[in-house]
Amino acid sequence: MIPHIIPSSDDTPILIEAIEKEDFDSWLSSQSSPVINWVKAQGFEAKAGAHVILPNEEGEISKVAFVTDGKWDIWSLSKMATSLPKGLYQLSAELDLETATQVAIGWSLASYKFSRYKKSEQTYADLMLPENADAEEVARQVYAVNLARDLINTPAADMGPKALEAAASQVAGEFEARQMNVVGDDLLTYHFPMVHAVGRASDDAPRLIDMVWGDNNNPKVTIVGKGVCFDTGGLDLKPSAAMLLMKKDMGGAANALALAYMIMDANLPVRLRVLIPAVENSVSGNAYRPGDVLTSRSGKTVEIGNTDAEGRLVMADAITAADEEEPDLLIDMATLTGAARVAVGTELAATLTDEDDLYSLIEKSARAVKDPVWRLPLWDEYRSMIDSPIADINNSGNSPFAGATTAGLFLKEFVEKSKSWVHFDIMAYNNRERPGRPQGGEAMGIRALYKALKDKYGA
Ligand code: BES
Ligand code: ZN
Ligand code: ZN
Repeated sequence: MIPHIIPSSDDTPILIEAIEKEDFDSWLSSQSSPVINWVKAQGFEAKAGAHVILPNEEGEISKVAFVTDGKWDIWSLSKMATSLPKGLYQLSAELDLETATQVAIGWSLASYKFSRYKKSEQTYADLMLPENADAEEVARQVYAVNLARDLINTPAADMGPKALEAAASQVAGEFEARQMNVVGDDLLTYHFPMVHAVGRASDDAPRLIDMVWGDNNNPKVTIVGKGVCFDTGGLDLKPSAAMLLMKKDMGGAANALALAYMIMDANLPVRLRVLIPAVENSVSGNAYRPGDVLTSRSGKTVEIGNTDAEGRLVMADAITAADEEEPDLLIDMATLTGAARVAVGTELAATLTDEDDLYSLIEKSARAVKDPVWRLPLWDEYRSMIDSPIADINNSGNSPFAGATTAGLFLKEFVEKSKSWVHFDIMAYNNRERPGRPQGGEAMGIRALYKALKDKYGA
């Protein structure tokens, strides 16, 4: 079942006729006079992406005219998906497999609604699966994106570290992936000291979720996702406006799980590992403090400049664990810094890597599937901004500048043996609504990564 995509039906669908912008006037003149009058009476402007519903002689809907500039992408039909009256529609346009698949995904994603606490009255139009579209691919990507959205949208009270572990188990269970969870004080025994330090002030025990899937002989791809289920800022508490949205601070983990879902469902020939440090950055008598020095899993010591820079701490220990088995490709995803949002805004995934070829591959895929990324520097000379006089590194540093870069450089300290590494600093949330992308939790970067991985490792 793909939401609002119908594989086949006995009902007669309403045609959505795609008309090239330049051809619109001549197309209109070939229509019946009621249609011509109707279109003109509404002052319809044939701009690319616009549509108009056309009546028959009885005043019923006969079809929909959709104006196109020939540049089809995932979001081409998304506006119609939420604005056409409920009913069954069929697209009449000649699209190749890739494009037909993309537009079907964009139609389905448009009707997402987070309905856990409030049932929606809204009804949406259905689209016949477009000719040439790959139904399995549509189902896979829609499921994954909506999974990420649901996980992010769920408030911290119902999506704490334990619930996030359960969500991971559900994904793992579907594909018979092995999962190990290191919980609470076991984090000390199994050497995840910074995950423990950040998460120990919460009643919901911190944990390291470790999932492994696939043939051991395949290239090793490891995804690490920041699972801070709520970020109060710790003792260096966030102001209320900044804290309000911090249920989304597990957006990296949600995206990691969604990407893992796609990889496993598509059976990509990789050995996949997903590592999620799941914690709540909370305040209590036993909370870690500014000025504390933590010894990380790698042995490096970290002075705490600010307990609100908790993401890089939990990520560092998880990245170290990932790095120990020398993966071919290490991807990490995190809602890591406000600075990345200042730099590229909320709608681009900030991407940091030292490898030009890897970045090019990701960037090309991102463009193809309209899941945009933008590269930020991993400028080594800024490493001194996070020097500490009493430890190997400081988690926050003293400058207001280049915050996304210094956070990336912090993580880089823990990448030693991985053959390839890329870091994503994402918003994981739509602050505003756009076609196909309702407000709220969002997958960012993973459709691009999925395509890049398919291209790199082949299916
Ligand atoms: N979760 C935040 C980063 C964040 C804030 C992402 C807003 C998206 C939107 C992270 O844990 C954090 O608070 N980072 C601090 C780091 C600073 C104290 C060095 C930041 O970015 O201000
Ligand atoms: Zn924080
Ligand atoms: Zn955070």
